[in-house]
Amino acid sequence: METKIAEIADGIYRLSTFVPQIAAPAGFVFNQFVIMGDEPLMFHTGLRKMFGLNRDALSRLMPPERLRWIGYGHFEADECGAMNEWLAAAPNAQAAHGQTGCLVSLNDFADRAPRILADGDVIDLGGGKRVRFIDTPHTPHGWDAGVMYEESTGTLLCGDLFTQLGDGPALTEGDVVGPSIAAEDLFKYSALNPAMGSTIRALARFAPRTLAIMHGPSFSGDGAAALRALADDYDRRAAEQGFVAAAKAA
Ligand SMILES: [Fe+2]
Ligand SMILES: [Fe+2]
Repeated sequence: METKIAEIADGIYRLSTFVPQIAAPAGFVFNQFVIMGDEPLMFHTGLRKMFGLNRDALSRLMPPERLRWIGYGHFEADECGAMNEWLAAAPNAQAAHGQTGCLVSLNDFADRAPRILADGDVIDLGGGKRVRFIDTPHTPHGWDAGVMYEESTGTLLCGDLFTQLGDGPALTEGDVVGPSIAAEDLFKYSALNPAMGSTIRALARFAPRTLAIMHGPSFSGDGAAALRALADDYDRRAAEQGFVAAAKAA
């Protein structure tokens, strides 16, 4: 396996590892995103067993020990499995995650205490980069789920939202909604719930210009339109399960 590096927005790099054995024959990618700044942040640690690959990839961008912040979408092995390996490799690094995630998992799991982020809190990385944490509970899955938004580039760090199969380009202006609907049909990875569509639709208020997708190509274009289209599809799924009617009756 190799980890490819591409700059998907100004000062934001995608570290991408393709695993052909997962969901063969299409395969599946795992992406980490590094936001440069005086205090660099990496979103997703990657799998523990891929730590060596990702550390070697990061070292092509900067000395790994310069890493200051580690964020992720929710508590799962691909999102944060290598947390403690990174904390050991970067002595000044600190994990940063939402209140639920810290209380439920990270306060215990991380070898150093995390920074607890309330919904909407911003980490100023210096160099003009500012990263905001947004709670998205149970969306697409995980009680602790959240996304991050880098304000200067308009980049939404989507985590598992827009998951798709295959090894596409690092950055596309093409459709990312259709392939994600197909992946949901196959994996059923989302914790479908009545609020899911509105949780995703609310992210459109940021009008992101780039969507940094964990499993798939990054997207350049009208991020708000893509989010609304994805939200509409989850509303459809919820309605088919009777969730919307149940919510209105409550
Ligand atoms: Fe996940
Ligand atoms: Fe993931």
